[in-house]
Amino acid sequence: MDNNVRPADMARINTPALADAFIAGQVAQVRAQVGGKKVLLALSGGVDSSVVAALLIKAIGKQLVCVHVNHGLMRKGESEQVIEVFKNQLDANLIYVDATDRFLDLLAGVDEPEKKRKIIGGEFIKVFEEEARKLEGIDFLAQGTIYPDILESDGVKAHHNVGGLPEDLQFELVEPVKLLFKDEVRVVGRALGLPESMVERQPFPGPGLGVRCLGAITRDRLAALRESDAILREEIAAAGLDKQIWQFFTVVPNFRSTGVRDGKRAFDWPVIVRAVNTVDAMTATVPEIPYEVLKKITARVLAEVPGVCRVLYDLTPKPVGTIEWE
Ligand code: XMP
Repeated sequence: MDNNVRPADMARINTPALADAFIAGQVAQVRAQVGGKKVLLALSGGVDSSVVAALLIKAIGKQLVCVHVNHGLMRKGESEQVIEVFKNQLDANLIYVDATDRFLDLLAGVDEPEKKRKIIGGEFIKVFEEEARKLEGIDFLAQGTIYPDILESDGVKAHHNVGGLPEDLQFELVEPVKLLFKDEVRVVGRALGLPESMVERQPFPGPGLGVRCLGAITRDRLAALRESDAILREEIAAAGLDKQIWQFFTVVPNFRSTGVRDGKRAFDWPVIVRAVNTVDAMTATVPEIPYEVLKKITARVLAEVPGVCRVLYDLTPKPVGTIEWE
């Protein structure tokens, strides 16, 4: 039997009871596969890797070694949440690597979107590889592969997180949620006690804020991006819209505009608010965020984020505009 094919009679996991049964089954299976050996996991803090981490902590505790690489392009509070949940609450064996300077130094002056993506992806693998080499006695690599990854990779084994590791670091894979769809992964995550903000996290591109800080990334614009994104998230949640909008974020372009601040002429960055609803990210519509909410977001960004003098709402559906700006 091909164990990368979801059995036709497998129940959709949509209740806590079904999630508990799935977890119990996977805990037994992982213990049988791994025995007393060690498992390595790249823990980004996204839904899939977080659920895999929580599941494996339940199954094998400290035999799981999680590596969280902060590439400096995370949203505000994300790396802190990974440490709080996994190290402090779940007592995980977690290695935290702050590689911010490494990534930002490499990205300095690089303005082409695909080049930026390549650098971020390549450097991520390098940092992870370095950490993996420091560890001894690792036999397995856990991955947050989910069923759509397998379907989309056309039968080729999907490498969800850290594809690209060199030959001598090809460990045996542990992929406990590889037959689940995203909604099922969330149900399992909830049953494992992960916080709602982690389980319900909206999709976040691998290159993170790197593709929202347009052109060559600079630290001042990256800071403006992180702060404005946090304000947007707070206000959308406060308005009760966070479960209704599929993806929302801010973008900071690499051109300035004129403003007036404290009676003086300013020449600062604009912040663009982007929000979309979609089913499959192939097409998307723009939600009608109430004007009052947009005004509150604008007022807060202008008052609280240094170096920003203008706020815009992007009304472009996909097509023609893509969801991300680059
Ligand atoms: P676009 O901009 O192509 O985005 O309309 C569609 C969805 O894909 C996400 N996205 C990415 N995800 N790496 C990722 O993991 C990337 O390089 C990347 N670029 C776009 C985007 O956030 C949206 O959900």
